[in-house]
Amino acid sequence: MLKKIRLERFKNFKEAELTLGNFTILVGTNATGKSNIGDALRFLHGISRGYNLAEILGEKWGQGGFLEWEGIRGGKQNITFQNFPTFAIEVTLYFPEEFECDEAGNLIVKTQDKYELIYRIEVNPGINGKLPKLVEESLYYQKSLKLKIENLPNNSGKMLLQIYEDSETKKIIEFPTKADKPLLIDSDLINNIFSENEINKSISHDIDFYINEVLDELSHLQFLDLFPDAMRRPSNPGQNILGDRGENLSSVLQGICQDQNLKIGVLEWLKALTPMDATDLEFVTDITGKILLVLIEANGQKIPIISASDGTLRFLAIIAALFNESDDLPNFSCYFLEELDNGLHPTRLHLLIELIETRVKQTNLQIIVTTHSSQLLRLLSYETLQNTSLTYRLENQPDAKIKRIFDISPETETLIKEQSLARLHESGWLENIMEFSQEDE
Ligand SMILES: Nc1ncnc2c1ncn2[C@@H]1O[C@H](COP(=O)(O)OP(=O)(O)O)[C@@H](O)[C@H]1O
Ligand SMILES: [Mg+2]
Repeated sequence: MLKKIRLERFKNFKEAELTLGNFTILVGTNATGKSNIGDALRFLHGISRGYNLAEILGEKWGQGGFLEWEGIRGGKQNITFQNFPTFAIEVTLYFPEEFECDEAGNLIVKTQDKYELIYRIEVNPGINGKLPKLVEESLYYQKSLKLKIENLPNNSGKMLLQIYEDSETKKIIEFPTKADKPLLIDSDLINNIFSENEINKSISHDIDFYINEVLDELSHLQFLDLFPDAMRRPSNPGQNILGDRGENLSSVLQGICQDQNLKIGVLEWLKALTPMDATDLEFVTDITGKILLVLIEANGQKIPIISASDGTLRFLAIIAALFNESDDLPNFSCYFLEELDNGLHPTRLHLLIELIETRVKQTNLQIIVTTHSSQLLRLLSYETLQNTSLTYRLENQPDAKIKRIFDISPETETLIKEQSLARLHESGWLENIMEFSQEDE
């Protein structure tokens, strides 16, 4: 799972770090960088797709002339903070080795053999028509530096690969530059380098293994910005990936409901979340052969998804995301969900929070959401509160910052217990205290 993401000179962050939990909440006034964090994660996801830097930042067109990837919101021209030449993103990934379920069906880590991988990439995005370039790339296994690879383009047009086995033993290899593409995804190049140079077999095996771990983890990031009209469209049978806007909702749910246990889970939550408008699901094939979801109302009336309400569709899509994996683990996925509370009635919000908090415990899912809803904050469990962070800007400073709510001040936790985070949020206390503590310094 993602444990930490660090941003340097990325969009409106000069230097900021976000700690992530199973369920992470991002709050903060408009334009403080919540979605920019999503963009940074999307950049990392782009790497796992094997694209080069120009494609990740710009766009990727596939053979046959279709758009495969939309690039990073805002493009590359304005991606670095205040036109700095480079930006860097560092992600810490945490791998608990094995899971098992306790009696309540919650996941617990079985072995203690857990480890961390830290991947960092620094990029010059190349403004005014220049191509983006890799400035530096590194992968550490454990903080104590058991293994580290560093990829540094040097002045002579060559890349330097430095492999550390521990903090002292170092091997440096020079190889022809390929600064347009992260080394991480160039397994051919890595294999060539390893076969032409004298590198301990077990080390090259380790490097290969850890690189794949990182890529695998990043490949399971998904970004949901749900649009009701996209969710209403019928979808092709067998399509089991929920689109970023909620596309394929009908066929994804159909796939999930083929598993009886999952179907029971889905219906249970659906009935609780939308007691009037959906107690059962049916899937019909339309005249074009596509799948169309039909909601069975409590009174037996059938409502095709085309006529379902926006709020119901959002519930359905979130349920689909949360159940769209088998309970056989580990099968990590991480969703970044924009404005979780959007279009949902406050009385249903508590169930939605309960659903997410339950699912992240039962599965290998990680959920990151942004919200403006104080109501939602009122409903969070203590554990989720611990993973709630504020994005904010100070009056006289150009950059935005990120702070875990519980780290704001030593009294914050007590204050939240007494007043609830919701009240602190709606009164603007969170932003004010940051301003005050800045003045104190
Ligand atoms: N390269 C950049 N340098 C400085 N600020 C930037 C840069 N790119 C975007 N921003 C700022 O980021 C803010 C938008 O952040 P965003 O993540 O969309 O906010 P929200 O918290 O509402 O999701 C805007 O104020 C925009 O000016
Ligand atoms: Mg936003």
